[in-house]
Amino acid sequence: MTTFYDEVGGRAFFERLVDAFYEGVWTDEVLRPMYPQDDYDGAKERLTGFLEQYWGGPGTYSEQRGHPRLRMRHGPFPIGPEARDRWLHHMMAAVDVVDPSPMHRALLVDYLDRAAHAMVNRNPAF
Ligand code: HEM
Repeated sequence: MTTFYDEVGGRAFFERLVDAFYEGVWTDEVLRPMYPQDDYDGAKERLTGFLEQYWGGPGTYSEQRGHPRLRMRHGPFPIGPEARDRWLHHMMAAVDVVDPSPMHRALLVDYLDRAAHAMVNRNPAF
């Protein structure tokens, strides 16, 4: 059975997506300070590894990092609606750069949108 990962061209697709995404993140004054300032390559590698595993590629991410537990891992970062929307904005721009087929785009955008909403851990009213 082919997976989404195979259909979009394997790791190269996710590398291009993540490269384009981080180009946006590094220019973002809200998001940039949250990321490890001396380990941009590591941050890219972790996100690429997670996404390729999620979409049916190699399980290297979990071999190296264990269970993703993404909400827990994001606990230290103050993710309210603004950070979420900025993250999604850069991710959607990156999806435009890699330009998958309409079906793959719909699946990817739906997932990223839901995942980003699930990562919110701060309410601006508090
Ligand atoms: C890690 C921010 C949403 C996947 C990180 C890190 C930050 C961050 C600052 C640490 C960078 C590192 O050292 O790896 C955010 C913000 C989000 C968001 C502000 C806004 C909603 C998401 C979403 C996903 C995701 C929706 C998945 C689709 C990951 C992964 C890691 C990570 C896989 C590495 C975890 C690890 O193994 O340590 N994120 N993130 N993030 N993020 Fe996010």
